[in-house]
Amino acid sequence: MYSKSVMKHFMRPKNQGQIKNPDGVGTVGNPTCGDIMTVYIKVKKNKDAEAISDVKFETLGCAAAIATSSMVTELAKNKNLDQALLITRQDVADSLEGLPPAKMHCSNLATDALRRAIEDYRSKAREKAEKPKKNKKEEEIIFPDTDPRK
Ligand code: FES
Repeated sequence: MYSKSVMKHFMRPKNQGQIKNPDGVGTVGNPTCGDIMTVYIKVKKNKDAEAISDVKFETLGCAAAIATSSMVTELAKNKNLDQALLITRQDVADSLEGLPPAKMHCSNLATDALRRAIEDYRSKAREKAEKPKKNKKEEEIIFPDTDPRK
């Protein structure tokens, strides 16, 4: 039996859909039940931290999978990335006034998809930061004697 909160988030999920040009995307599936969840995030850089300015999800799955997706996006919105990584499946389940034991794995999907979206954002940011350095080195190595100022 689902709680009122689960039914509310299942019937009227928050943040459902895609984000165009997301900064990070995370998809996870559960091979046993076949449910699949994708989380999209937009990240805004502040002085000291990076925060989730927008978050949406697409889920093909059971009522609990949809409700936990909806709840994890609500919990993650406006949190900085390190805080968002600390959201646990228990936090999601507690915020939904509990989940039946057989449905606790649905909240794993939600937190895992969020984590993957954050990891995706961070790995893209690392690649971006490393690219210019590489190009500069290549230029120095390939064209050492073509400096017109010499
Ligand atoms: S039954 Fe598997 S995610 Fe809900």
